[in-house]
Amino acid sequence: MPAGAGVATSQARTIDAARRAWAEEFRASGVESPQLDARVLVGHALGLDHAALAASATRLLSASEANAIAALTRRRLAREPVARIVGMKEFWGLNLHINDATLVPRPETETVVEAALAAVDRHGPRRRELRIADLGTGSGAIVLALLSELDNALGIGTDRDPRALAVARHNARQLGLRRARFVACDLAAALCGPFDLIVSNPPYIPSADIAALSPEVRLFDPRAALDGGADGLEFYRAIAAAVPALLGVGGAMVVEIGINQAEPVTGLFAAAGLALQPPRPDLNGVPRALVAEKCA
Ligand SMILES: C[S@@+](CC[C@H](N)C(=O)[O-])C[C@H]1O[C@@H](n2cnc3c(N)ncnc32)[C@H](O)[C@@H]1O
Repeated sequence: MPAGAGVATSQARTIDAARRAWAEEFRASGVESPQLDARVLVGHALGLDHAALAASATRLLSASEANAIAALTRRRLAREPVARIVGMKEFWGLNLHINDATLVPRPETETVVEAALAAVDRHGPRRRELRIADLGTGSGAIVLALLSELDNALGIGTDRDPRALAVARHNARQLGLRRARFVACDLAAALCGPFDLIVSNPPYIPSADIAALSPEVRLFDPRAALDGGADGLEFYRAIAAAVPALLGVGGAMVVEIGINQAEPVTGLFAAAGLALQPPRPDLNGVPRALVAEKCA
């Protein structure tokens, strides 16, 4: 019997019974957060938020509702992430649309936003005029989070994939962040400085390590968002070469880094003449954001 068939063919279940049955199916298939994922997907299929789902727990599902739930939950059993199934991910409290050309924004990337805001705070009030660039912007997550905190900042996001940029523009419009612009180019090739802040979460997985990532990442995140070349450092080299000429004096560069990358990336930015600060850890204690400043 194919995965999920037993749950899907059952008729006239209550919403709560269906939610529990799918959670059990997810658990048995090794899905990491089975209860949460079942609740989100059942709610999404029925158009019910968390409170409405709880209030409707004892209502019987129609056959078409049960089919709608099964269509979504089967995708999860094939290890498609919930964020991709619902087409949205929350980042820095902002609801962002995503598509198959964008990475699903990660909680650890919020460390880059925190480090960038701390760098801004070191040099003056947040309300001053600032120019921000986000290299490899994807859904626009980092630059939009920063613009949501910095009222007088202008932001530009670059990406090589025009379909990612279409989503980033859509997100900026939905959030009313008209101070965001997006441009298709290779990293910073189309940008003119000086910038006060340059941020990036570049692809940084060593090419050979991609095959060992979880199916949710390996099968569904775009390869161009993951692949950092043979040693994972290809994009940091390109960024270190481009950024010193684009940063204004007193400006800061903040990059996300992967596990064990703090030392080599620090070396690349130091060799480019930037002044490094100790890496900022994410919530798991992993060094995650590296800040480099351009001194006078
Ligand atoms: C790790 S993802 C980060 C996306 C987003 N900033 C985030 O944190 O969720 C890297 C992004 O860089 C983009 N990218 C890859 N190579 C690029 C290049 N040569 N120039 C510009 N963008 C590139 C990918 O399309 C992807 O959107």
